[in-house]
Amino acid sequence: MSKITISLIKADVGGWPGHATVHPALKEVAESVLVQEKAKGGIIDFKVMAVGDDLQLMMTHLLGEDNAEIHGLAWDVMCKATEKAEELKLYGAGQDLLSDAFCGNIKGMGPGVAEMEFHERGAEPVVAFMMDKTEPGAFNLPIFRIFADPFNTAGLVIDPSIHQGFIFEVWDIMEHKRVMMESPKEMYDMLALIGAKSRYVIKRVYPKPGKLPEDEPAAVVSTEKLYQTAGKYVGKDDPVALVRAQSGLPALGEVLEPFSLGHLVSGWMRGSHNGPLMPCAFEDAVCTRFDGPPRIIAAGFQIAKGMLIGPVDLFRDPAFDLTRSRVNEITEYMRRHGPFEPHRLPMEDMEYTTLPTVLKTLGERFEDAE
Ligand code: F6R
Ligand code: MG
Ligand code: MG
Repeated sequence: MSKITISLIKADVGGWPGHATVHPALKEVAESVLVQEKAKGGIIDFKVMAVGDDLQLMMTHLLGEDNAEIHGLAWDVMCKATEKAEELKLYGAGQDLLSDAFCGNIKGMGPGVAEMEFHERGAEPVVAFMMDKTEPGAFNLPIFRIFADPFNTAGLVIDPSIHQGFIFEVWDIMEHKRVMMESPKEMYDMLALIGAKSRYVIKRVYPKPGKLPEDEPAAVVSTEKLYQTAGKYVGKDDPVALVRAQSGLPALGEVLEPFSLGHLVSGWMRGSHNGPLMPCAFEDAVCTRFDGPPRIIAAGFQIAKGMLIGPVDLFRDPAFDLTRSRVNEITEYMRRHGPFEPHRLPMEDMEYTTLPTVLKTLGERFEDAE
């Protein structure tokens, strides 16, 4: 069988109300366009989902990554959803569509993209992770733990088919460069980079020689705004990721396990605060407290000749209740810090600032200190 491609493309084309969630009418618009495209045979299957204020289009097809027809289709859906958002006067209608016209590839035009092309295995479990109110570096910790941490992934120690570890593709988004690193051999060097999550981000993970082809990714993370604008700050980019599981890869439960921490991520309130990441059910992905706290949902599928058998709402499991209540406690604790770091981000990472104006106003009142 030929390779299939999964394309997960997302954009904020209008919030309801504020930046809280996606209005159902936008999802209906997306469904109606994609139903027609599926009937025409342009795509094999699709699912329309949402997390916070981000509309998510998951599509399967045979056209490979970076395909102009698929990216054009997603652009068309986002434009039609924007028209609906304008009609309903939703908040920030079309805010992630940075260009007036589509020019062949949706990357750099505002929407986020995670795509992977691979030979579908006899049974192919895939998880689509979707985050709101944060940035691509928020995936560094969990992706590292899934594919490199033996305290998370038991298989790294006891499953001969993954015992050799994985290859990580790490991007330096300032210099717009990438490096392939091998785990476990270069694990400490890799952590030295990816711990600095606003600069070094994990883009892909590949298997080593074994059960799966080495050139077909096991995981991919969206990094689009960063991709196009290396070195220039353009705001946070609520990220998505695709992760394949089982049989030569981490098990589904090993893929979900790192999210039980509720780790700290950047991008909450005005893209300028740190806060804990809450794994939640689809219906709970509504960001209201202080425009957050940051959320992640996980949609689980089996892929059957490109058909998306799912989604299963994976974080709906009550086994994540303890994480959620811990996240709520940490939320309470961090909010008490108000405008102080490390709740508020350091100056260079903030999306909003009044500092230049304040400094200008104070001007000559600054005098030499002792
Ligand atoms: C948006 C976000 C929100 C907004 C905030 C202010 O994803 O993180 O916290 O930054 O609601 O939005 P504006 O400036 O549009 O009033
Ligand atoms: Mg928004
Ligand atoms: Mg968003």
